[in-house]
Amino acid sequence: MAKQEDQFKKVVSHAKEYGYVFQSSEIYDGLSAVYDYAQNGVELKKNIREYWWKSMVQMHDNIVGLDAAIFMHPTTWKASGHVDAFNDPLIDNKDSKKRYRADVLIEDYVGKLDAKIEKEVKKAQKRFGDAFNKEEFLATNGRVLGWKERGAAILKRMGQSLEKEDLADVKALIEELEIGCPLSGSKNWTDVKQFNLMFGTKLGASADSAMDLYLRPETAQGIFVNFLNVQKTGRMKIPFGIAQTGKAFRNEIVARQFIFRMREFEQMEMQFFVRPGTQQEWYEKWKETRLKWHVSLGLGEDNYRFHDHDKLAHYADAAADIEFRFPFGFKELEGIHSRTDFDLKAHEEYSGKKLQYFDPELGESYTPYVVETSVGLDRLFLAVFSNALQEEALENGTTRTVLKLPAVLAPTKAAIFPLVKKDGLPEVARKIVDDLKFDFNVMYDEKDAVGKRYRRQDAAGTPFCITVDHDTLNDNSVTVRHRDTMEQTRVPISELKAIISKEVSMADWLQKM
Ligand code: GAP
Repeated sequence: MAKQEDQFKKVVSHAKEYGYVFQSSEIYDGLSAVYDYAQNGVELKKNIREYWWKSMVQMHDNIVGLDAAIFMHPTTWKASGHVDAFNDPLIDNKDSKKRYRADVLIEDYVGKLDAKIEKEVKKAQKRFGDAFNKEEFLATNGRVLGWKERGAAILKRMGQSLEKEDLADVKALIEELEIGCPLSGSKNWTDVKQFNLMFGTKLGASADSAMDLYLRPETAQGIFVNFLNVQKTGRMKIPFGIAQTGKAFRNEIVARQFIFRMREFEQMEMQFFVRPGTQQEWYEKWKETRLKWHVSLGLGEDNYRFHDHDKLAHYADAAADIEFRFPFGFKELEGIHSRTDFDLKAHEEYSGKKLQYFDPELGESYTPYVVETSVGLDRLFLAVFSNALQEEALENGTTRTVLKLPAVLAPTKAAIFPLVKKDGLPEVARKIVDDLKFDFNVMYDEKDAVGKRYRRQDAAGTPFCITVDHDTLNDNSVTVRHRDTMEQTRVPISELKAIISKEVSMADWLQKM
């Protein structure tokens, strides 16, 4: 656990030191759970967004994009159920005066059972070596099965109690499990109460005529209210999808773990409209498609798993999370939800406008069902960034810090160095920058010895370093150093564009997927 915490601290400080993520309003001591993306962070975030957008919109001829406003008519949130049901169950510790999400306390307890299972697997792996069969071990080991059953039973009871709004039972569960305040250990709890997560604001100049608004807590509703506009103007035929990326806001109570849980964050969502009765099939298809997309980033297949929900949101008939192994354990990265016809029906009812689709093949009108994929851009950023940050022991006994970002996502694709700041080398290096910058984000660096410049670019995540030396003046060749292997090759300047392109081209990555 301490090792995990140390690794996570390194992630946070590296993100700051190398210009990826800063605390918001830091000079005023910061704003809790709000962050700014710095010069490198903004590029990484843009590249992740673009990779998602291209694979969703550009690669599917039946998915189109949308950019709806953050402000929406307040009735939207009544219809969607957010005014009445977008709540977190909160509990206070009477001694430490700290407030927690009751469901998170219980989930963390179950997380500890999961950690025990992982430890047991590691122990057995060590004991049995190559003969170890993980699946068989998980399915037969008595202790593991016991922890698994216990965890599942706890989550099931919590899910049912929350579903029934039986908050007394949620408190009873916390007491039965003897869960203490994570800070003080005290088990002196208040009752569990519901707390709405939406931020309110006002639209209008004068106090009496101002209209109460909410900052959207999800981007999805902008898609639902535009469903018919897009379907008609785009002549879309079911099944079809509408994709959107944008900011969402939630007054999170448990706001910790850096950019994992923020009060202002960005979502990348896609609502897929299908014929009623086919939603299960599409739900399974999108689960599989989205997992494949994540795996294509090369962060390691073992770092993902599905978590099927026992506790369903008010709009869903099936839901699963794609969880990622963050430095603090497996946690939700993306949600896949079968949202039924709940949202379109509700907007129909509240607006009085018909939101139906005429299916020419069936010759009838119906309210489509919706399967949604919803991933947090900031969480994906954290997954990519934390997975990439590595300390490597080198053959000469030293270590290097290297940020092995997928090349397609790296903020800077290549750094160009003159070996020395004289003899015409800077001019050649600058000319290379000027040629490459039309195709890639590249930078020039002449400060410090070349070895130090390599280390700096390794830590910043730049896949290529290109060094101009005295031989370059005679043979028009340069040394290209690869970040991950540290391999160096001599190549003609004229081939640089092709060499970089091969590794970083989004088209190639999309094709491989
Ligand atoms: N439209 C469905 C929806 O919003 P959700 O499970 O509440 O579903 C979807 O959120 C995704 O948004 C999550 O899987 C997560 O990646 C991201 N997300 C949610 N709350 C977040 C927060 N406070 N900070 C960062 N990301 C968040």
